[in-house]
Amino acid sequence: MVPRDHPLPTVSQIRPKHKTSIEQRCADDEMTRLMRKYQLFYLEFERQRGARFWHQDREMIMMTSNEYLGLSHHPKVVAAGKRAIDEWGSGTTGARTANGSRTYHSRLEHKLAEFLGKEACIVSAAGYLSCMAAVSTFAGKGDLIVVDRNVHSSLWTGIQLTGARVERFAHNNPDDLKELLAHENPAHPKLMVVEGIYSMEGHIVRLPELNAIIEGHNCFTVVDDAHGFGILGDQGNGTVASFGLTDSVEVICGSLSKSLSSTGGFIAASKEIVDFIKANSKQTIFSAAISPSQAACAEAALQVMVDEPEHRERLWENTRYYLKILHDLELDTWDTTTPAVPIVLGDKQRAYRAWKKLFDLGVFTVLAVSPSVPPGKDLLRTAVSARHTHDDLDQVGDALAKATRWL
Ligand SMILES: Cc1ncc(COP(=O)(O)O)c(C=O)c1O
Repeated sequence: MVPRDHPLPTVSQIRPKHKTSIEQRCADDEMTRLMRKYQLFYLEFERQRGARFWHQDREMIMMTSNEYLGLSHHPKVVAAGKRAIDEWGSGTTGARTANGSRTYHSRLEHKLAEFLGKEACIVSAAGYLSCMAAVSTFAGKGDLIVVDRNVHSSLWTGIQLTGARVERFAHNNPDDLKELLAHENPAHPKLMVVEGIYSMEGHIVRLPELNAIIEGHNCFTVVDDAHGFGILGDQGNGTVASFGLTDSVEVICGSLSKSLSSTGGFIAASKEIVDFIKANSKQTIFSAAISPSQAACAEAALQVMVDEPEHRERLWENTRYYLKILHDLELDTWDTTTPAVPIVLGDKQRAYRAWKKLFDLGVFTVLAVSPSVPPGKDLLRTAVSARHTHDDLDQVGDALAKATRWL
C-alpha cells in the first residue's frame, strides 16, 4: 500500500525527460515523417458494400484489395467462418507443436495440397510467414540463392535469414539467369526464388524458360504464388499448374488473403519436404496456428472456387475491361496482362499527385515508390476484383483521366 501522504508519481515524473536514442531515431525517421504528413496509409474505412467503402462518410471505390475473386462476403464463406467460431472458439492460442493440430487445419491442408497437385501442405497464420519460411528453412551457409530482383519482401526476409550467398537476376529475365549460372559450378547446391504473378508488376513468371536454364544445376525451386493462386490454371490452381510444371517445382507457397479472401499462408510440397518444414521452420514451430474461422473461411472459399467458376470468369472479364480503359487513356501499365495492374507514373511527385487527385475523386489506390519499386517506376498499384462492376471501373477510368491529365 502507498501511504496517502505519498501519492504515486505521475507518468510524466516517471518517464525520462530526454528521448532515448531509439525514440529519437523513430522521431527522425524520414519514412515515418512522410507517412504522418501525407496520411496515405492505414486509412480507416467505416463501412463497406461490394467494392465501395466509406471513409469519413465519403464513398470510395476500392482499387487496392487483392480480393481477386470477391469471396469475402460469399454466403458459404461467411457461414463457414461463423460455424467454426461456434464450434472451436476464436483461436488455438498457441503453436501446433505445443497445442496440437485441429481437424480444420488438416482438412484445409489436405484440400490445398490436392488442389495444387502436391502431396502435402502446411498452413500458417500469415502469408508473410509461409513465404519467409519457404525460403529460410531450406538454404543455409554455403548454398547459393538465385532470385528475381523484384520478389516480395517476405521472400527477401527469408533469404536474409539463411546466410547463403545471394545472386539477383534481372526481373523475369531468363537470359540474365543463364549468364549468372554460367559462372557457377553446376553441382553446387542452389535455390531459385521467383513469384508466380509478380505482385507489383502483374507479370507472369517465365517459368518454362527459367526451369530449362536451371536443369542440371542442382537447383531447388520456390515459387511464391500469392497472386497466381485462384487466377491462373484451369480451376485457378495457380501459375505452376498452368505451365504443367508442378513436378519440376519443389515448393509452392502463397497467401490465403487474396483469392481465398481469408488470412494466412500456405506451403505445398512433397510429404518429405513438408515434414522437414514441420521439424525445422521456426516460423512454423514457434508461431500460433491459423485461427478456426480463418481456416474455415479459406476452406469454404476454395470449395466455392472449384464449384463456381463464374467468379474467375468475371475477374478475367473485368481485367480485360479495365485494361482497355487504361490503354485507351494511354497509361503505362508495365505490360501487365493480369488483374494485378500497376499504373506507372515514373517519379514520386507525379505518383503522389495522381494518388491524391484520385483519392479526392473517390478512388482508392496505393502508392508504391522507389525503393519498393525500381527507380523510375514509381506507380499506383491497382487490382481488379470479380466484385467490381463495369460501372465501378468506368468511374475509375473517368477519375484516372482527370487525375493524370495535368501531372
Ligand atoms: C507475393 C506476396 N507474397 C507474400 C505476401 C504475404 O502475404 P500475406 O499478406 O498473407 O501475409 C504477399 C502479400 O501482399 C505477396 O504479395
